[in-house]
Amino acid sequence: VTEGRINLTFRCKTKETDGEEEHERRDQWLEQMIDGAAPDSQGWSAASHSETGNVTNAATTTAFNDHSVFGHGVKQGDIPTDQKIQFLAKTNMGAECYCAAEIQEILATIVMESDTGGSTKLDDWHVVAQPLGMDGYVACCCPTDHGENHDSIHKVKTTLLQNLRSAHHLLQYHTRLDIQDMVTEEFPEPKLVDGETLYQYVKKRLVDGTIVIQSLVNLKEKGGTFRTTCERVGGPHAFRGPDVEFEAGGAMSEFYTWCKPKMEDYDVNVRVDVIANVVVIGTQLNVSDLSKDRHFMKFRNVVTIKANLAYAIVRCAGIQPGMSIADPFCGSGTLLLEALEVYKGQLKCIGLDVSRKTIQGAAENAVAEGYNSEVCHFICSDARGLRRHLGDESLDAIVSNLPWGIKTGHNGSISDLQTIYEIFLRTAWYSLKDGARVVLFVLRGLQLTRIVRKLGGRYRLLSVNVIRTTNNLPCLVVIEKLAVDQVRESVKGQLAHFNKYVSVSSELYEAIHMETINDD
Ligand SMILES: C[S@@+](CC[C@H](N)C(=O)[O-])C[C@H]1O[C@@H](n2cnc3c(N)ncnc32)[C@H](O)[C@@H]1O
Repeated sequence: VTEGRINLTFRCKTKETDGEEEHERRDQWLEQMIDGAAPDSQGWSAASHSETGNVTNAATTTAFNDHSVFGHGVKQGDIPTDQKIQFLAKTNMGAECYCAAEIQEILATIVMESDTGGSTKLDDWHVVAQPLGMDGYVACCCPTDHGENHDSIHKVKTTLLQNLRSAHHLLQYHTRLDIQDMVTEEFPEPKLVDGETLYQYVKKRLVDGTIVIQSLVNLKEKGGTFRTTCERVGGPHAFRGPDVEFEAGGAMSEFYTWCKPKMEDYDVNVRVDVIANVVVIGTQLNVSDLSKDRHFMKFRNVVTIKANLAYAIVRCAGIQPGMSIADPFCGSGTLLLEALEVYKGQLKCIGLDVSRKTIQGAAENAVAEGYNSEVCHFICSDARGLRRHLGDESLDAIVSNLPWGIKTGHNGSISDLQTIYEIFLRTAWYSLKDGARVVLFVLRGLQLTRIVRKLGGRYRLLSVNVIRTTNNLPCLVVIEKLAVDQVRESVKGQLAHFNKYVSVSSELYEAIHMETINDD
């Protein structure tokens, strides 16, 4: 290293250099936000609450330091040969793993009482995400030799309907059709198959008995009404969703003559969903979407996350009862309310939002759900100021649906999301305990992962899942706080060890490494 080179480094740091002003502005920002911001001892602090309150701090339990993320390792794809699909849970595409993990947990809680007085667990049921290429579905399978009306089928159905949080719908599975099998000479490609051809195909399969809609068969004695509903994604298709409802519904009403089609107040809802070239037929067992109206939402933010995804985010955070968690971009507070419900109110929650109207609304929502400000506290603040409101190392987890667009802050001013995300993660690091997780739902998944890599010594990326919402592909990103930057510590240790063998003054060392030799 020559003096010349060092001078070169200094020369680069002049006002004339492009972008230097921007760097300086940003450095000042960081200094202000990170080092200058002493936590307000009078303010709400999760740490002080847990000291005085009766909430235990579970951050050091083994489970919290377990790195496996909820939903990892679930079975995917094929159905075991000795199993058949009994139920299908419908969730967001990309969120199947969370739904499968939840169903597995629910099945594990079901214990069947036998006639002889003993009790058994449902070990013989299997859960498979994206079964047979059905994106957005999770199959709940029982052994093929199970009787149709077996007690366990009923028990699984009712328990899932009462408890499932990660799904939109629960279906009694009937069949899966492939549009490829419907092609004819007239319509030689799946994309050309029209509604009339779909009708012919379904009718033929009903007549030859290879499709049985058991829920409609069950109406035979008393008669009843039904409707078909269709959600169509992927394609291109030569039919629209309403065409599928009309044609498939027509075939069913002609075959099951005792069932009358009815659009409202019907007895049975048969779903005929089309996902690219796959048609899934099942009877919807729930009435309204399982993810809707879960919380008393007195106030609804412009963008409100669906409760089933809120559940997945919360479960990925490795939360245990008694922990302190925060949502620094809380909107109407859905994530915190979901967490409080899942962990039976045994959490300390803090929500931040830059909009005063939104934060007031979130507080109203929490009160409507029965949580006072001791349990769920809301502050109108920029997320980058999180450290001002919390003690250092006071949070066990952060869960958040980050702002997606470019309109942020007050008065709709445009600022750079990249900067917001990065500064937020830099400052949040101080408020998090060692090993705490940060679970973020973000439209710009690649951008966020680049930032996490940049902050590599502070955080570790645990998982990234792309999830389909109506017309977007946001990511669910799980990261973990690292208390020590091991690479940096190792390099510094080696430098300190070998420094005695070279004649590098402390000034020169500082110039080379941009920190002092004895620095922490
Ligand atoms: C995607 S929404 C969150 C929605 C929320 N999960 C819900 O279900 O209602 C993002 C929220 O971040 C807030 N926000 C934007 N920039 C912010 C900032 N710098 N600090 C804090 N909140 C911010 C917005 O006001 C908005 O309410």
